[in-house]
Amino acid sequence: MAKKFAAALDGPSGAGKSTVAKTAASRLGILYVDTGAMYRAVGLAALRSGLAGDDRAGIERLLPGLTVMLHHGADGQHVLLNGEDVSGDIRSSQAAQYASKCSAVPAVRAFLLDTQRALAAGQSVIMDGRDIGTVILPDAEVKIFLTASPEARAERRYRELLASGQNVTLAGVRADLERRDEQDRSRAIAPLRQAEDAVLLDTSRLTLEESVEEALRIIFEKTGVRA
Ligand code: DC
Repeated sequence: MAKKFAAALDGPSGAGKSTVAKTAASRLGILYVDTGAMYRAVGLAALRSGLAGDDRAGIERLLPGLTVMLHHGADGQHVLLNGEDVSGDIRSSQAAQYASKCSAVPAVRAFLLDTQRALAAGQSVIMDGRDIGTVILPDAEVKIFLTASPEARAERRYRELLASGQNVTLAGVRADLERRDEQDRSRAIAPLRQAEDAVLLDTSRLTLEESVEEALRIIFEKTGVRA
């Protein structure tokens, strides 16, 4: 059996983390965990409750009534909010903004931490997020910080949202992305930053296939496990 390992893939929105992580995990035959989906589920709960995004006390009060679980099936990851599959609903720009706000609340991060660590305990994983290499899995065998220029990231996210049928403009998507990055980088708890021992992978000029190959090369270099 191949060696068990964890690969942490962090970086700003739109750098291609989820696509690269998902594809690399499938090539390696290991689990892919999208931690952003869990923050989005909490964000969606706050949105549905009619709370303002910055109502930290209100968000904290919601937590005891929430369960956020990930289900990994043949068709990928599903996120369940109190048992309801919200995998589609969490993808709206509004849910993303709420996710970013909620993710700055320490109680929300504490609420999701154990579930995330438990997923990496028994099996090999590629986990993507903002603080996987710095906080959740500081001993991960592989740490990659995936980034791309703001233009490339906005363009990719714009195409993704259009493809999913959302009515958006490139300028609007870029503004959203920059606002969210600024929030994620400047928050007091677990801010988005490159771990000291992470390999920087800039995908601005790479295709998806090239980015996946590069991530797989880094994983092989660190673990000896080949796709
Ligand atoms: O990766 P994403 O866009 O689905 O993440 C949604 C929000 O959740 C993002 O703005 C920051 C937050 N997040 C976080 O704080 N920590 C993580 N490990 C993953 C996401």
